[in-house]
Amino acid sequence: MFAPSPSQLATIPRNRVAGLLAGSPKAELHVHIEGTLEPELIFALAQRNGVTLPYADVEALRNAYAFTDLQSFLDLYYAGCDVLRTEQDFFDLAWAYFERAARDHVVRVEPFFDPQSHTARGIGFAVFMPAFIQAAQRAQDELGLSVGWILSVLRHLPEDEALQTLRAAEPWLDHIIGLGLDSSERGNPPGKFVRVFARARQLGLHRVAHAGEEGPPEFVRGALDVLGVERIDHGVRASEDAALMERLARQQTPLTVCPLSNVRLCVVPDLAQHNLPQLLAAGIKVTVNSDDPAYFGGYVNDNLLQLFAAQPSLGASQAYALLRNSLEASFAADADKALWIAQLDARWQDAGRVA
Ligand code: HPA
Ligand code: ZN
Repeated sequence: MFAPSPSQLATIPRNRVAGLLAGSPKAELHVHIEGTLEPELIFALAQRNGVTLPYADVEALRNAYAFTDLQSFLDLYYAGCDVLRTEQDFFDLAWAYFERAARDHVVRVEPFFDPQSHTARGIGFAVFMPAFIQAAQRAQDELGLSVGWILSVLRHLPEDEALQTLRAAEPWLDHIIGLGLDSSERGNPPGKFVRVFARARQLGLHRVAHAGEEGPPEFVRGALDVLGVERIDHGVRASEDAALMERLARQQTPLTVCPLSNVRLCVVPDLAQHNLPQLLAAGIKVTVNSDDPAYFGGYVNDNLLQLFAAQPSLGASQAYALLRNSLEASFAADADKALWIAQLDARWQDAGRVA
């Protein structure tokens, strides 16, 4: 199966793009498992664990999701984690997300988990790792969904604590594909985490980092040069620096962009003004992802469909590129990627023929 040609893509009318976006195989490369904790599950787990929440009901909690910046979100996100106590809680969280992702035709997901938001509460790897491993196995068996877990360290905490976290993960490394870096970007440059990323490299882990969400383009450069990352999470502020844009395009460094997150955290004013089309037109390997879907109002298909609805310049060729980029930018085995890309191409070839 060949990739659809530019002329074939050009024949696909815009009103067919939404259906193709929603129904095509895709990878989700930027989702925090703790950010998939829906208010309904927060209340169910609170009740199961005897935790009293400072909100009367689900609606009151959802109404609190009015963020002004990254930190205002993180405060609620870490508070939400408090209901996650037992192995069953972590399993229920991950399994609910995997079922939801499969409905969006996600075939590969590389979710982040934040060990420090649990170990700080006395909940260790022996509680959450078996749950994550079992949920991933069931996703593969029952949903045909391939999962690769990425351990993410919190950048507002000292590097020594990140190193301790990576050490605690060593018995579980058969089930972890990479190291990530998240939490408050301002004031916490990539250079703070040189040793932990060097250690991850020694351990054979993939490396990614959040950069250029609220932080400046220099943080994107630092993540590449100092941490040696293979993908940049967010990276939207790269568009402020023409030389960096050119470098990202030349190196084909994937950006895992999260449009609804960017709007909800006031990184961009609205979807119509999101710079994703500009990043894509510059030849950068852009992907669309959901970040923290329970908090930002949408899973991956919502992100794709709402972005395309808001941006008239996006059509079939951009839609195909974003889907294909997601599969190519994943850390899955080459044979799996080739199979998913062939399935994607078959679907888009058919659409080109019957257009
Ligand atoms: N940025 C930084 N840290 C995070 C995010 C994010 O969007 N989501 C969860 N932790
Ligand atoms: Zn994120």
